[in-house]
Amino acid sequence: MTQSGIDLMDVDGLTQLPRHVAIIMDGNGRWAQQRNLPRHAGHKAGVKTVRSSVEQSVKYGIEVLTLFAFSSENWKRPQKEVSLLMDLFMVALQREVKRLKRNDVRLRIIGDRSAFSEKLQQRIAAAEADTANNSGLVLQIAANYGGRWDITQAVHRLALKVESGQLKAGAIDESLISSELSFSDLPDPDLFIRTGGEQRISNFMLWQSAYSELYFSEAFWPDFDAQAFDQALEFFSNRQRRFGMTSEQLALAENKGSVE
Ligand code: FPP
Repeated sequence: MTQSGIDLMDVDGLTQLPRHVAIIMDGNGRWAQQRNLPRHAGHKAGVKTVRSSVEQSVKYGIEVLTLFAFSSENWKRPQKEVSLLMDLFMVALQREVKRLKRNDVRLRIIGDRSAFSEKLQQRIAAAEADTANNSGLVLQIAANYGGRWDITQAVHRLALKVESGQLKAGAIDESLISSELSFSDLPDPDLFIRTGGEQRISNFMLWQSAYSELYFSEAFWPDFDAQAFDQALEFFSNRQRRFGMTSEQLALAENKGSVE
């Protein structure tokens, strides 16, 4: 298998698969501008790529797919774009639930949903409830999410426990902070993808991506098709994840079965 991923491989060709894939879906606006279309047309086209990424994740038996749909900073966009994006979320949530159920996908939204309209919050809660018993892929949509927000709300919760005497400040360690973050019940992302040519983390899962493999694609999100997704998996399959150890230590640990 080559790094360029020219040959489309099947699941057997991959030596390791990520348990959790996280994606910054970037480039919708530029995709639309290239076609002389309004930016919103790019977001609309991006929904198709959301669908194909979910399909690929289900096909490969990936446990979690997290998509960055709306950051805490995206409120700064022109009001019209924000409002069209909200409409798109509403429509997508309603339309896609059936398909998610058919594919045994459990939908979860992470982020501060309190800023969304009452109607959108209700739609989110209904879609989550409708898919709550599914046991396949967990599809997480990060909406009004920011990595710093996530860490801040975790610290705030811990501070309240200290204040009320439930917790000693000295007992705060990494695992306690992790346990207060969004999706603490799920594995951290193994593979972190950003489309659209930029090489930034842009306040996505700052804490949880500490050991993620980073994959940057030049493709605009609407063009990031199934084959492009497979190429990202192929890239991941070729990575050696050392978690701070040397290759020799890693081989030893793997033989002892202490590294996944
Ligand atoms: C970034 O591209 C994309 C977004 C801010 C929105 C992503 C939303 C979708 C793909 C729509 C549907 C999603 C779900 C989960 C239903 P950009 O606008 O920053 O592109 P640019 O960098 O080219 O301007």
